[in-house]
Amino acid sequence: MQETTAIAAPEQAGLEPAKRESAAPQHKPQAGKNTNPRYAELYRHYPTIDYLRRRARRRLPHFAFEYSDGGSGKEDAGIRRNWAALDAVELVPRYGVMPSLPPCEVELFGRRYAAPIGVAPMGGPAIVWPGADIYLARAAQRARIPYTLGTVGCATIEKIAEVAPDVFWFQLYRAARNDHAIGFDLVRRAQAAGCHALVLTLDVPVRTTRAREVVVGLGGAFQADFKKMMQMAMSPAWTMALRKNGIPRFSNLRAYAGDVSINDMVAFARREMGGAFTWEEVAQYRDRWKGALVVKGIMHPQDAEKAVSLGVDGMFVSNHGGRQIEALPAPIDVLPAIVRQVGKRATVMMDSGIRSGTDVVRAYALGAAAAFAGKAFLWGLGALGEEGPGHVIDLLIEETQSALGQLGARAPDQARSVVIRHEGALQF
Ligand SMILES: Cc1cc2nc3c(=O)[nH]c(=O)nc-3n(C[C@H](O)[C@H](O)[C@H](O)COP(=O)(O)O)c2cc1C
Repeated sequence: MQETTAIAAPEQAGLEPAKRESAAPQHKPQAGKNTNPRYAELYRHYPTIDYLRRRARRRLPHFAFEYSDGGSGKEDAGIRRNWAALDAVELVPRYGVMPSLPPCEVELFGRRYAAPIGVAPMGGPAIVWPGADIYLARAAQRARIPYTLGTVGCATIEKIAEVAPDVFWFQLYRAARNDHAIGFDLVRRAQAAGCHALVLTLDVPVRTTRAREVVVGLGGAFQADFKKMMQMAMSPAWTMALRKNGIPRFSNLRAYAGDVSINDMVAFARREMGGAFTWEEVAQYRDRWKGALVVKGIMHPQDAEKAVSLGVDGMFVSNHGGRQIEALPAPIDVLPAIVRQVGKRATVMMDSGIRSGTDVVRAYALGAAAAFAGKAFLWGLGALGEEGPGHVIDLLIEETQSALGQLGARAPDQARSVVIRHEGALQF
């Protein structure tokens, strides 16, 4: 099981509050129907997700930024491939048809969402910004887009159900010891809490190396050494967030591990979880879970076919955001073949590399019912703390509407009939 890093308490005192960005409200793109009164000011400083990433790099403790930003392979080759593949998809516009910007609401598993956008599950996002899970969930609920809590997230299923009752999805890693005692209990809790979709992650069958995590000391047991203490001291806003929200913990596992130390919890997670679900296990979860069942990490049309044959409702085409091995193709390049294979039998979604609403429309145009993002939300948190996730959502929705409008699509579905140049598309 990969994403099981946690963090110990810094013992900082007397740190200054974070400096506030001060700027007069300026231009706000027409597409907006978001309700954040600070949007214009935030937009002036952070008009795209790339600006948030740059700010996060400067503002976060180095180890926290490295956790949010790193991937597999030399110089994050896997992440770079995802970005390059999305950048290479060209969409041909048609004009003379669009007097105003289109709405971009979608339906997923029988529920309406504000846009074909969602928050991908993440383990330990509170390392990047203490309190992250709650801030992400709250922003998603406010904007009405799906939020996926990770098994090794830092808030409980029950808490997220309170904060984000209308948009709550839950991701499960394989916890198979004692006949899936923990896995089945987590599913029971998610069902009892009213979670709408269960996401089984298939694509972490092994642990791989993310060099940037290893060299900042997040590869194993966490030690609040001098280097990390210095980094925290130089990031007062992060340290304040830590004081406010407490030390990140794998909150969902506390019910099973007890009130143990961070490093004991990491050890517990590594002991209890591991490998990826087999198809037989997917079938077992299908039998138990009454809501929408989604598998995450599909990269081959025949695996998509297998999932459909087991009765899953949806799937994420994903390479785990380039965090496993760098030889995997970009999900956008396998998406069309998987969409062709699945047809209308299940809902195909995509993540890995989404950094703009234009990327969302690229994925949508190639058949994805929605595109989810992971790192973009972490950079938002890193740059803006609590208000970061909301700004990322606002940017993604505005950009999605703008991209649809530019193409002459009056609704998301019309993006599927534009002419597309996609030379990277894999044929199976
Ligand atoms: C810090 C971090 C932790 C993650 N943890 C998990 C996890 O616990 N479970 C999971 O299924 N995916 C996890 N992912 C993968 C995301 O769900 C998603 O597939 C990926 O981030 C999408 O790519 P993107 O970051 O380029 O948007 C994680 C991603 C990041 C960046």
